Amino acid sequence: MSPLLVANWKMNPRTLARAQTLFASYALKKKPRAGIVVCPPASFLPAMHALRKKKIGLQTIALGGQNIGPATEGAFTGNISPSMLKEFGAGYVIIGHSECRAQGETNELINQKVKTALAANLHVLLCVGEIERVHDGAEFSVIREQIAIALDGVTKSRMKRLTICYEPVWAIGTGNPASAAEAIEVGLFILRTIASVIGKHPRNAVRVLYGGSVNAENARDFLEHDVISGFLVGGESLSGRSLLGILHAITK
Ligand code: PGA
Repeated sequence: MSPLLVANWKMNPRTLARAQTLFASYALKKKPRAGIVVCPPASFLPAMHALRKKKIGLQTIALGGQNIGPATEGAFTGNISPSMLKEFGAGYVIIGHSECRAQGETNELINQKVKTALAANLHVLLCVGEIERVHDGAEFSVIREQIAIALDGVTKSRMKRLTICYEPVWAIGTGNPASAAEAIEVGLFILRTIASVIGKHPRNAVRVLYGGSVNAENARDFLEHDVISGFLVGGESLSGRSLLGILHAITK
């Protein structure tokens, strides 16, 4: 499986002009040996979509949203629907990021969002991960529950458009990533958990990404053993140089 690199800009950068400069700085000199998805703030998506059409080197980069509402239209103040994302070129959406969970998103709400996104043919980047690592294996039951509820009622055929992002909350934005061994162990557990839901080993069906303080120096180690097959990158995606550094490190 060729790696997938997802840039999660979160609520950055501050202005549209800076967002355009940032996206332009991702321009690739040749076709990458990894998939790249950029998830800007939704209000910047139309401009990124336009820039991607215009600027050489951005065409192979896919776009994604950072969240959606659980419904497709109606009286949902502040929500964005899958079709609103798709209209501006997004093919992916992050769901269940820990920063959204921290604002009150429950596993049940995340389940509704996953089903709404998959029904609209978006590719879902479902984030799971424990808040702290207390070295008693508790992370496994947290992650099992997050996955089981998030995927409740999702048909097997729709899981083709599903990627699970293992993001231990304690590693996000802290400069303190999980070790490659820790991430691979949880990655295997995620694959086994999905297998118990869909009834077969999904190594080639469902991709597992790692996220949490990924950079060009540490990225490559996570890919050993073919369990983790890419990254969700926050801080280091806010400079083209750093993101392309990670791309280079994982594809050389
Ligand atoms: P980070 O964020 O790379 O800044 O740790 C990752 C994420 O929250 O997706």
